[in-house]
Amino acid sequence: MFTLHNGDCLKFMETLQPESGLCIVTDPPYGFNYDPNRKRNSVNVQKGLKLQDRNWQQIAGEAKEFDPSPFLPYEIVVLWGANHYAHKLPSSKRWLIWDKRDGVASDNQSDAELAWCNVGGSVRLYRQLWRGIARAGEENIANMGEKLHPHQKPVALMIWTLQQVGITEGMTVFDPYMGSGSTGVACMRLNINFIGCEISPEYFAIAESRIKQAALQPAFSTPSNNRLHWTGGDSPASPSQSTLEGFTAPEADTTPPASQ
Ligand SMILES: C[S@@+](CC[C@H](N)C(=O)[O-])C[C@H]1O[C@@H](n2cnc3c(N)ncnc32)[C@H](O)[C@@H]1O
Repeated sequence: MFTLHNGDCLKFMETLQPESGLCIVTDPPYGFNYDPNRKRNSVNVQKGLKLQDRNWQQIAGEAKEFDPSPFLPYEIVVLWGANHYAHKLPSSKRWLIWDKRDGVASDNQSDAELAWCNVGGSVRLYRQLWRGIARAGEENIANMGEKLHPHQKPVALMIWTLQQVGITEGMTVFDPYMGSGSTGVACMRLNINFIGCEISPEYFAIAESRIKQAALQPAFSTPSNNRLHWTGGDSPASPSQSTLEGFTAPEADTTPPASQ
């Protein structure tokens, strides 16, 4: 079951119970007032190598520091970007590291991103190049050509994240800050149930279309009884009426995802 909600996750969470067995896997706004429309890499623009980009909406929640406390009571919790709010988290021996440079030179952005998790084990490292237009994997410019969100995460990173914390087929992930829906696509590919919230109607529409597309990809294992359940939003920009659209995904195919 996939449920996508266009609205405020904190309001939506009033209907959820930490004992419900939901696993939180998310990449919240970090609160450092990032400007998604700052000047892009002019060298690449001059060479005509720029990824198709758009005039991004300011990210909701960026103006204040993230408060992780509503999510901590859940049994499995993974929070990307947690180095920005580590002082609000219990100590953990296990952090997940995404090396975004994978051997190429640093620029003025971070070389890596860090996720805090409440599952025991060793620190783990994932490498995938993600620097401006240089993006390895399925999001490579040759395959995709379009950036979907200023903070878009690679689907392969989210698949790796789910596997690292032992989230498997049949379990349910809740991503309260789903952005362009990378966690949802990863869940679709692993037959993991998914609940996603996104407050921005623009980013919600991107996530919705992307997850629907992922459900239709026969190359990935998808249960034939998977249902996508879309709900209307509670934000003023998004009318309050709810819509329910049933969706039956194609028959399962056990071909593994293409290598990243
Ligand atoms: C860091 S981005 C997530 C990007 C995502 N990992 C991806 O791959 O596209 C955080 C998202 O949370 C959304 N957001 C901020 N506050 C929210 C809230 N209270 N409820 C739901 N979504 C929210 C923002 O609009 C933004 O799209």
